[in-house]
Amino acid sequence: MEILDLRHFSSVDLRSLLEDETSVWSRLLSWDYSGSAEMILRYVDAKILPGYAAVDRGRVFGYSFFVYEGSKGVIGDLYVTNGNRLPDARQVEIRLLTHVIETLQQSPGIHRVEAQLLAHDANVVSRPFLETGFQRHPRLFMVLTIGKPGPQQNTILPEVEIRGWNEADYQPSAAVITASYRGHVDALINDQYHTLSGSLRFLNNIVRFPGCGVFDAEASFVALDRKSKSIIGLILCSRVRSDVGHVTQVCVLPEYRGKRIGELLLAATRANLRKRNFAALSLTVTEANHKAVALYRRLSFDTKRIFDAFVWEG
Ligand SMILES: CC(C)(COP(=O)(O)OP(=O)(O)OC[C@H]1O[C@@H](n2cnc3c(N)ncnc32)[C@H](O)[C@@H]1OP(=O)(O)O)[C@@H](O)C(=O)NCCC(=O)NCCS
Repeated sequence: MEILDLRHFSSVDLRSLLEDETSVWSRLLSWDYSGSAEMILRYVDAKILPGYAAVDRGRVFGYSFFVYEGSKGVIGDLYVTNGNRLPDARQVEIRLLTHVIETLQQSPGIHRVEAQLLAHDANVVSRPFLETGFQRHPRLFMVLTIGKPGPQQNTILPEVEIRGWNEADYQPSAAVITASYRGHVDALINDQYHTLSGSLRFLNNIVRFPGCGVFDAEASFVALDRKSKSIIGLILCSRVRSDVGHVTQVCVLPEYRGKRIGELLLAATRANLRKRNFAALSLTVTEANHKAVALYRRLSFDTKRIFDAFVWEG
């Protein structure tokens, strides 16, 4: 078994591996990974995707890639198939990660590395991260079944209006995101939350690019203060399968918290998806974000998986 530069390979070498990975994402996360897989294959053919491939007798059976975003490196994915007579998959994953981490930490100008491994159970591949100075943040993948009627919605807030998301909400939403995550554990995991321009980049990635599902404007909402007409909270939803929504963002300005605005936003998304016959709504939340976890539990979200986010600052 050898670990080689991903740029030596083409989509022909990786297609069946990515099909295999797509079926794993479908089984574990009810997530249709095929759009992301096609995008990865296009980047592989263009020879612009940095990363490593695990190769055995000429066959690629594992890979990991990363992207550079300014002075930050983001580990995009890690997948190893565990077919017959192949070396132990976990060991191969750790070898791939070791190469990726070493490359990123030694890249000139890279001062931060982030990774979130949604399809890996917490701790299973943490060793190469912890040995090289990363912080680990366990996160929950939670799912709400939409089919059955929702909890009785008694919450009425006369001072708050919930309305559908529209394009003009971009800039004010970025300001709400930045203010909502000041001093927050998720700002340790994702440094885009630190600045307005970073939050705009985050929004742009969610709304315009199909990396994390396809943005679903219909199931995305903002909360307005009726008096000032300003945005005080928002929920963004993407479609990760034809009948599964995923909350990519939900936040409320600190001074408006504890009034059930978060609950109203989640109820608006749920009601919209229910009307459109969606089966489920998923989200990810950092385990240490106790208030958010408690809110999701109260709204009947179940924890399906626990995975890790890793962060290194050099
Ligand atoms: C998570 C978040 C969206 C919840 O919004 P919210 O409008 O405060 O939510 P709700 O009021 O519906 O529910 C929050 C719970 O906190 C309680 N609470 C009471 N006082 C509170 C206060 N000062 N601040 C926050 N919550 C308070 C609420 O009563 C409710 O408790 P309960 O579930 O036991 O009834 C909001 O805290 C937030 O924006 N956090 C920062 C961003 C974030 O963590 N987003 C989620 C990422 S996965």
